[in-house]
Amino acid sequence: MSKTSLARAALPVEPTRPETTAFAADVVAGLTATPKRLPPKYFYDSVGSELFERITTLPEYYPTRCELGILRANAAEIAKVIAAGAALIEFGSGASTKTRILMGAAKLAAYVPVDISGEFLAQQVDALRREYPGIAMLPVVADFVKPFELPPTVQMMPRVGFFPGSTIGNLEPHEAGAFLREAGRILGRGATFIVGVDLVKDQRVLQKAYNDAQGVTAQFNRNLLVRINRELGADFDVKCFEHHAFYNRERSRIEMHLASLKRQRVRVCGECVDFRAGETIHTENSYKYSIPSFGALARGAGWAPVSVWTDPDQCFSVHALTKKDDGPVRAAE
Ligand code: AVJ
Repeated sequence: MSKTSLARAALPVEPTRPETTAFAADVVAGLTATPKRLPPKYFYDSVGSELFERITTLPEYYPTRCELGILRANAAEIAKVIAAGAALIEFGSGASTKTRILMGAAKLAAYVPVDISGEFLAQQVDALRREYPGIAMLPVVADFVKPFELPPTVQMMPRVGFFPGSTIGNLEPHEAGAFLREAGRILGRGATFIVGVDLVKDQRVLQKAYNDAQGVTAQFNRNLLVRINRELGADFDVKCFEHHAFYNRERSRIEMHLASLKRQRVRVCGECVDFRAGETIHTENSYKYSIPSFGALARGAGWAPVSVWTDPDQCFSVHALTKKDDGPVRAAE
């Protein structure tokens, strides 16, 4: 029940679907806050997901290439932390490209992809069932940053979480800690967690990865406004907003913003949103960690770091964690 939808009769798009209502509420809350912000999870409509796929192939965008390289080069070793007959639970599975590397190397009994997009998930699972007939495919439609339950058959198997892509970097460090702790509760006793984390590095490398020459990242950022116009009937003049991405050294994060090129007023869900010239909407943070700083975060959230793999240039890291306070780990501490 938002006051805006009651007060204004001329909503161009009626927010009937619950997803649309949540989107509208988050957008209004973010754009009426100071400073203005929008949650990065809304980048990924079908156009945004395609743009992100293009980003992952850009010469400047090293994380995907580095992580795939790490997983391929160390597949056999990584497979050693995955018990035979284990269930692999992937948080935000997407296209499962990285998972296929682990499926080839480990002896999995089940794969539990957890993703918010049910339709996309069903398609992916169809393909995976044909490719890996020996692995039980048990998709869960859920927003993985919120509590969800595992399928009951998985409770009997060793459980390994998988969270690649440095998606954890989108969370504030305290949220990342809370997420790791909640994942530990979901995965349960004796669980292992494999997490991909982008590393702090030369600022020029970071800067370029989020300011690519072809402007795909800029398009990805601005697509958020295109989506708000289409789905919520807003009237953003998208060309009057500019992509800004920079490294905030103090906080070890890339910040993405959309900067208003002039003073302007935008109508969103019946609200007037005023912009000063140069005022920005903060659309994303992408936190970078050092290996010790991520280890400390994990430890504080109930996990013990057991192994870490990196590429030769130390661009990216893949961490193996085991749950503390239960199982065989306690004896080793
Ligand atoms: C999907 C959150 C890992 O932070 O690098 C890429 C998203 N944003 N280019 C990242 C993103 C701009 C990406 N993550």
